Amino acid sequence: MGLRVRLILVGVSVVACTGAVAVGMTAASASSRAVSAHRTVRVTRDRAALKRARLAYDPAIERRINALIGQMTLQEKLDQLTLLSDGQINDAEAAKPVGGVFSLTDPAKIDHYQQIAVQQSRLHIPILFAYDTIHGFRSIFPIPLATGSSFDPNVARTDASIGAAESTVVGLKQVYSPMVDVSHEPRWGRISEAAGEDPYVNSVMAAARVKGDQGNDPSAPNKVLASVKHYVAYGQPESGRDYNTTDMSLARLWNFYLPPFKAAIDAGAQTAMCSFNSLNAVPGCADRYTETNVLKRQWGFDGFIESDYTAVAELRSCPPVNPNTGPCGHGVAPDGPTAAQIALNGGTDMEMVSTNFRDFGAQLVASGRVPMSRINDAVRRILRVKFRAGLFDHISFNHVDNRQTPIPPAYRAAARRAADESMVLLKNDNATLPFDPTKKTAVIGPLGQASGTGVTAPGHDMLGPWWGQGRDQDAVAPYDGIKAQSPDATYTPGCTLSHSDLYDPAGECATVDDAAVKAAAMAADQVILTLGETREMSGEAEARSNLDLPGQQQQIINDVKSTGKPFAVVLFNGRPLTLSQVAATSPAILEAWFGGIEAGDAVADAVFGKINPGGKLPVDFPVNVGQVPIYYNHEPTGRPCDPTSKYNSRHRDIVSCDPLFGFGYGLSYTTFKVSNLRLSSTTMDARNGTVRASVDVTNTGTRAGDDVAQLYIHQVAASLEQPVRRLRAFQRVTLAPGQTVTVSWPLTRNDVGYYDNGGRFVVENGTIEVFAGDSSSESDNRATFDVVNGRALTQGNPFGPLLARQAKMMAIQRRP
Ligand code: NOJ
Repeated sequence: MGLRVRLILVGVSVVACTGAVAVGMTAASASSRAVSAHRTVRVTRDRAALKRARLAYDPAIERRINALIGQMTLQEKLDQLTLLSDGQINDAEAAKPVGGVFSLTDPAKIDHYQQIAVQQSRLHIPILFAYDTIHGFRSIFPIPLATGSSFDPNVARTDASIGAAESTVVGLKQVYSPMVDVSHEPRWGRISEAAGEDPYVNSVMAAARVKGDQGNDPSAPNKVLASVKHYVAYGQPESGRDYNTTDMSLARLWNFYLPPFKAAIDAGAQTAMCSFNSLNAVPGCADRYTETNVLKRQWGFDGFIESDYTAVAELRSCPPVNPNTGPCGHGVAPDGPTAAQIALNGGTDMEMVSTNFRDFGAQLVASGRVPMSRINDAVRRILRVKFRAGLFDHISFNHVDNRQTPIPPAYRAAARRAADESMVLLKNDNATLPFDPTKKTAVIGPLGQASGTGVTAPGHDMLGPWWGQGRDQDAVAPYDGIKAQSPDATYTPGCTLSHSDLYDPAGECATVDDAAVKAAAMAADQVILTLGETREMSGEAEARSNLDLPGQQQQIINDVKSTGKPFAVVLFNGRPLTLSQVAATSPAILEAWFGGIEAGDAVADAVFGKINPGGKLPVDFPVNVGQVPIYYNHEPTGRPCDPTSKYNSRHRDIVSCDPLFGFGYGLSYTTFKVSNLRLSSTTMDARNGTVRASVDVTNTGTRAGDDVAQLYIHQVAASLEQPVRRLRAFQRVTLAPGQTVTVSWPLTRNDVGYYDNGGRFVVENGTIEVFAGDSSSESDNRATFDVVNGRALTQGNPFGPLLARQAKMMAIQRRP
């Protein structure tokens, strides 16, 4: 093994994924286990991921910080609050030194600038080098929405752990991940970057990623600092347009959007990124309530917050004043100094790309607009994180370039397991899938192999919207993966899709080559349709107003259907799509998302039955775009939806109140039964009680497979309307035919309580309904218990005074 490859592999702990069960290989052995072993899982992976792992306060580090701060000039302090891009850093900036640099990935340059900072700057303070390692640095894993589908935190942890190790090889020490933005907005392109619509799934995945990034000790040579983002409520932009306004109640904010951030902080995340958007008219990087009151004070976060890209400059009104150039827009600051003032006083510690903190910090301190204590606090936080990352104690100037080297087989294998686990079987009439690989397979559809401008290899789209240092050549295209397992396979694109970042209707499957499609299908025994979006259609600033398959792709389905050949649709996309027509015309649908470097192999594994798909949807797939926002954990209404009568909360032109495919849903090549929900007690003491919920999951079919046991609760009567259901626990299990496993979770006050409109956590007396199943709509298993010794239900609107207090708090934070 060459030196480079060995260095890449140094000390990486790859947490084993359970893997979608490899049917052919393991069914027999798993089956023999079934007879003897009825397992009970008491320590489930969701709860293990959420276990608190904050870094301890270290007085020795604080003493070293004191010594440094005591020597720093104001200018040196302001330089630490400065975060420059790869295009901005130069020798002079490194010599100051600036606090951080992002997007630089050339190890020679990183070492060069680090050497200048550490050896030539007056106080020898190292620079923190950061990168968007979101779902891989070099070895690209499935997009985080896909990882959400795995319902397996070990998938997220493995992804982060390998991404961390690969990032450190070039000298990076911070990643701008996990992205934990809960979203009910499929139109929003960035829904691809987090784990979907549910706060609990996002919390579990967030914590798992932080632990993968940082381990127990971010100073370890293969570990990095995690930056949880985008703080907060970035996932709910109006009309789905990126960066757009968000307006919501505090109860909504606390119950849906803040929990994954809290989980990441409890898992030890050392940094956070404030978001571009405004929440209740306050931009994320100037929000004293969320940044200082909640994150730093209430949650005790002692790391630092960096702004998003030019987000501080964007606080200004347009046209921009002082400086008279650069981004502007929010209109909460007339000029650059005021933007710096409200961002710093809000709680933002480091400014990305724009340099208002550094340029105006001295005058703001001199005039008393920003207290010196605030500057010192920000510097202390940044230095603390650098100390914890080991930057002062062990720094290397000999980083290695892994950006072009072959991907180590162990990483490839992990990426394949992750992709295997992330696929969701949405439909499979008459056991259409799996196909027989020895038969003649036609692969038809534009996603089978990417081509066109901007594409350097057919696997291009599989990398998804954050491909880091991944290369198109690294990724196995669907057709290539299928052909590797079914050697007679043919490929016919049918049409081409645009890889432009801008809307390109003429390029988006505007016409279909019907003759070629039908001929290819006729010449084959079975057809796999590779349809969906290109990677350029999701991600940052890539909102869509229409969620159908782009262009005329439905026509490809119709063409193939007309031939009478058996076929299955495999979808590649970064968001929920509206699939009514696809579902009406196709016997089988497999949601493969963007599966990363091993996407093509994983798809072949699934369609030929080498693995049995076991993922579940982490987000609702609407019937049509008019249903948006639609999410399983919605509040009730006084007139619950009923499509068959008037005067209730319905769409007159949709015959159902449900999504087409709901949260938690996913099929398998086998069948499962979730049964026998039981509770350890009929009451829970709100102060310290525990009720244990247990449920049996049985594989009732003839193949080995994975199912996800899901536990939901609903508080029957509460002072604030409670979601009709909310997920509080889950566990993915692998079962041989006939095998049963008991899964058991403790429920405590943390599960049954909720946040009110003052952001206070309350546990109220009353009945809790518990539902168990393997999708959010299951109702076979229901049980109840009563919460006692909690707060009595309040009458009327008890939160008026709290809202008034909240308004006051918001007003205070706006004061210059
Ligand atoms: C802007 C994006 O919103 C953020 O997610 C990313 O980390 C930064 N750019 C840096 O690349």
